[in-house]
Amino acid sequence: MGGYASFVTTTDSGIDRARALDADDPLARFRERFAPTEPGLVYLDGNSLGRPTKAARERIRTIGDVWASDLVRGWDRWLDMPLRVGDLLAAGVLGARPAEVAVTDSTTVNLYRLAVAALEARAGRRAIAIARPEFPTDRYVVEGLARERDLEIRWLDADPVDGPTAADLEPVLDSNLASVVLSHVNYRSAAIADAPAITNLAREAGALVLWDLSHSAGSVPVELEGWGVDLAVGCTYKYLNGGPGAPAYLYVRRELQDELRPPIQGWFAQREQFEMGPRFERADRIRGWLTGTPGILGLTGAQAGIEVVAEAGIAAIRAKGVALTEYAIELFDAWLAPLGCTLGSPRDSDRRGAHVAIRHADGRRLTSERVARGVIVDFREPDVMRFGLSPLTTSFEEVHRGVAALAAAVRPSPAPRPDGRATRRGIGSRAARCRRPG
Ligand SMILES: Cc1ncc(COP(=O)(O)O)c(C=O)c1O
Repeated sequence: MGGYASFVTTTDSGIDRARALDADDPLARFRERFAPTEPGLVYLDGNSLGRPTKAARERIRTIGDVWASDLVRGWDRWLDMPLRVGDLLAAGVLGARPAEVAVTDSTTVNLYRLAVAALEARAGRRAIAIARPEFPTDRYVVEGLARERDLEIRWLDADPVDGPTAADLEPVLDSNLASVVLSHVNYRSAAIADAPAITNLAREAGALVLWDLSHSAGSVPVELEGWGVDLAVGCTYKYLNGGPGAPAYLYVRRELQDELRPPIQGWFAQREQFEMGPRFERADRIRGWLTGTPGILGLTGAQAGIEVVAEAGIAAIRAKGVALTEYAIELFDAWLAPLGCTLGSPRDSDRRGAHVAIRHADGRRLTSERVARGVIVDFREPDVMRFGLSPLTTSFEEVHRGVAALAAAVRPSPAPRPDGRATRRGIGSRAARCRRPG
């Protein structure tokens, strides 16, 4: 736990302890690398949109100047950006080798492209598997592919808090299964899937797993090469702080890059792009998976965010992510569980990413009320309030204030005392049961 060890030795839930944890935080200096927001804002939604780096704002401004001065000549320096930023992401965040990652397009588009390539590589097989609690776009893409290609969908009945696990995969494995689509960290519960075990299990059955890393890259360790992962996609606007609509990425393991065929043959994947030849000849390695003209402003934001994550290092980021979520859960146990809220994330920190899901039947209202008062969390149907704790930008004081604000809203008064001690109708009291509609 490094510099965060002190919090497990005490049950003091006062704000002074949060401030002490911030004072001891080895990553605290990285908060300076991000653009400031309005004073007092509690931002716990970096798992939806990460905060902007100062470097991104500066460089995006500069791109405007380069565009104005260099005009089309600017492409001399921009053309390879999807690959350059891909290599940076591969080395600094994903544990992948050079020329295995490209930063391009959206996660949805990349997911579709890699899923098609996987299905075609296993053309005799007629089934595709996905977990029921999977992110909507992943499910929709799989459903669309199944309709288009007349495939059977095999739904993994994973536990909504702890799943999916390798055991959930076993019942769907057979010689007819072509591919499996799964998130490494689940968007609702933050449960971490055992990527190496699941990848191996599927491979033994002859199927290719396509991982969605949107909630893991930049928050938990990812070792694509070490885990033997074949295919992966993810976004850069969450824990990689790329900015709204910043391009996503795709990863194709080097050994599969020739065997698999991209379904979109765009001119950026053409071997000699500017010869404008009559036929498509796919470029080698990950370049052959590009499509069309990249969005340079978005790539610039993504590059700046990835650089900061790589500099801080995933080990330090993970240590703080564990400490932040443990702290949030400790406050949850003290203040929110007695009010009838339930935890929608795994309790075991080894199985939990960097957000904490808190469930309450009135979650939608509670979320919008908190947002209106400057505590930004988000809500996911049917009852989940997500507290996104971005290790590079979230402070322990923000966690304290965010959980305290929710406790005050579930039971409007009295609020938890700043010294953390129970109030008269406080912690554990029956009178403190949360209000439920109807
Ligand atoms: C797990 C996951 N996959 C995919 C997406 C959507 O990606 P995009 O909008 O870039 O296609 C999200 C967005 O939040 C997500 O959380």
